[in-house]
Amino acid sequence: PVPVVAIDGPSASGKGTVGARVAEALGWHHLDSGTLYRLTALSAIRRGVDLGDAAALSALAAALPARFDGGRVLLGDEDVSDEIREEACSVGASRVAVLPAVRDALFGRQRDFRQGPGLVAEGRDMGSTIFPDAQVKVFLTASAEARAERRYKQLIEKGLPAKLESLMQDLRERDARDAARSVAPLQQQPDAVLLDTTSMDVDAAVAFVLDLVRD
Ligand code: CDP
Repeated sequence: PVPVVAIDGPSASGKGTVGARVAEALGWHHLDSGTLYRLTALSAIRRGVDLGDAAALSALAAALPARFDGGRVLLGDEDVSDEIREEACSVGASRVAVLPAVRDALFGRQRDFRQGPGLVAEGRDMGSTIFPDAQVKVFLTASAEARAERRYKQLIEKGLPAKLESLMQDLRERDARDAARSVAPLQQQPDAVLLDTTSMDVDAAVAFVLDLVRD
């Protein structure tokens, strides 16, 4: 089977950066699964679809005209890379992600990313549900304080408004929602290797994952 590296973990743990760098180093495909939940939320918000309407949301998710082009995310012909990172889409993504119908609608689309020579997939349920047979499973985490600070720095660098206190609050709420839901709750799989990046830089985290793959 085509090899998969599954990287799961909470918000702002560094999965995105580490996943992209590992994929690049290996020359493998890359799936940032959170993007699909963000795109579903964005489409719903734009169309005025209620974020609790499972039937309407799963139809939207199944039909998402999503495309990934280099690092950019397109919805139809529109580049929505920045918009899906905004707070409304982050909160919206974590709300639509509790709905089993939405998760089912996105299942096959995620599995389709598994193509040779290999795939690095990151999210919450890569190792548990989407690619349970992944060769390498990593649970990437960091303290809530470290994660809030990273997100804060990212926003400030982009010239966007940011408040450390409210970021921390939002992270805690989203962590709680991701961990408590009945489908695909965020939790470390028994066969996943724990990688705590609280006091580790990106280069070290990337090297750690690459070592696991090459072992
Ligand atoms: O960047 P951040 O880690 O904050 O978020 P993300 O990975 O883009 O995911 C956004 C939201 O989508 C999360 O809060 C989860 O609720 C949900 N999600 C999920 O349920 N399952 C996944 N495989 C990926 C994301």
